[in-house]
Amino acid sequence: MERIRIRGGRPLCGVVRVHGGKNAALPILTATAAIRGRFILHNCPAIRDVEITCEILQAQGVTAVRKGGSLTVDSTGLRPGPIDPRLAGRLRSSVLFLGADLAAFGEAVIPLPGGCVLGARPLDLHRAGLEALGVETACDSRGLIARGRPRSGTVILRYPSVGATENLLLAALGAEGPVRILGAALEPEIDDLCAFLAACGAELRGVGTSCLTLTPQPMHGAEHRILPDRMEAATYLCAAACTGGNLTLTDLIPAQLAPVTQALRAAGCTLDEAADRLTISGPARQAIPPLRTGPYPGFPTDAQAPLTAALCRAKGSTVLEETVFEDRFRHVPALLAMGARIEGGGRLIRIQGVPRLHGADLEATDLRGGAAMLCAALGAEGETLIRRAGLLDRGYQDLVPLLQRLGAALEPE
Ligand code: EPZ
Repeated sequence: MERIRIRGGRPLCGVVRVHGGKNAALPILTATAAIRGRFILHNCPAIRDVEITCEILQAQGVTAVRKGGSLTVDSTGLRPGPIDPRLAGRLRSSVLFLGADLAAFGEAVIPLPGGCVLGARPLDLHRAGLEALGVETACDSRGLIARGRPRSGTVILRYPSVGATENLLLAALGAEGPVRILGAALEPEIDDLCAFLAACGAELRGVGTSCLTLTPQPMHGAEHRILPDRMEAATYLCAAACTGGNLTLTDLIPAQLAPVTQALRAAGCTLDEAADRLTISGPARQAIPPLRTGPYPGFPTDAQAPLTAALCRAKGSTVLEETVFEDRFRHVPALLAMGARIEGGGRLIRIQGVPRLHGADLEATDLRGGAAMLCAALGAEGETLIRRAGLLDRGYQDLVPLLQRLGAALEPE
């Protein structure tokens, strides 16, 4: 899918089963490169980033076979193997092979990762954390290098980096003894990775807290169900907030979306929650108090772009501050082209609601920015074309047929 053509103005109505989480599946899948065994990953999303990760794994003797919503992974033939820079450069989570390969082989050479351009996205926290455990790291024309068996010890993260926390957990699987991470990220995807590693034999303490300890143990295969994708859910909620209508999401954990549902309620949407489902009646009608993104349990940065789209036609003025990434308003020019009134940039924008948006010819900037454009287009008058729409396949399974089933008028080209 390279382009999507959308005719806006139709409310979304119906039920969507939320898929397994991209940002939970990717570290768990990468972890199989550190553990010899057989795994069944249930509720694993069929998205581009999972496919790319399976291709990278294949070069290291790890096979992955999809059977419906489950991925069967066999790493009994795990061996050192080169990581194709063209694959690694397409997603951020390829950097997690640094910790996984270090644990498995005592050395890792990882082409620099790619993924959404949201700012510099340095790797200093990953490297400093490994070096605190006595691992030697370097960067050369091949990419990022790490060698040496991690010692037992404590790493202090100055910022609760999700990726650095995950990389350190994977590296700890090959450590000489317990590894403690102070200042660990609290995202639910970290908990899911810990649950998977525990199912494979690792000893984890402090799961769900910022003080995580992993004690390496003999590891083996396991079955695991990937937790629901809270960002896919947030995106569909914001789409309904753009179009109006009545949308029920099932198979999710509403509590993990609390900051998003709170913002949408403040914008005038009605949201009803049950144990594993959420129903929203849109549209968003009014501006909300100033909102700032932040590490979990703060407002998730990955929902900022879709929420920006949902607030473009909300009466009044909303200030959004992006504290996680330094360049995460790259979707704003597209919204302006649709008639939105947004000022600012960098870390802060002000959205002044307008009565309507109109279609435009757009180009997706990144995964969540492209999702924001799609949400805005669904609620706009007229026709919108979104180029580079293939970016959406990285993180949203069956997006177009699902939206069509909910009543949206859109066609891939
Ligand atoms: C993960 O990225 C997610 N990606 C991102 O989702 C998400 O936005 C982000 O966490 C924050 O929640 C995956 O899980 C695959 P970070 P990650 O390390 O690990 C800075 C999506 O749309 N930093 O927590 O890269 C960094 O520059 C994607 O699904 C350093 O300074 O995020 C950023 O400003 C986008 N040095 C902040 O920390 C480092 O060594 C948060 O980054 C590492 C990070």
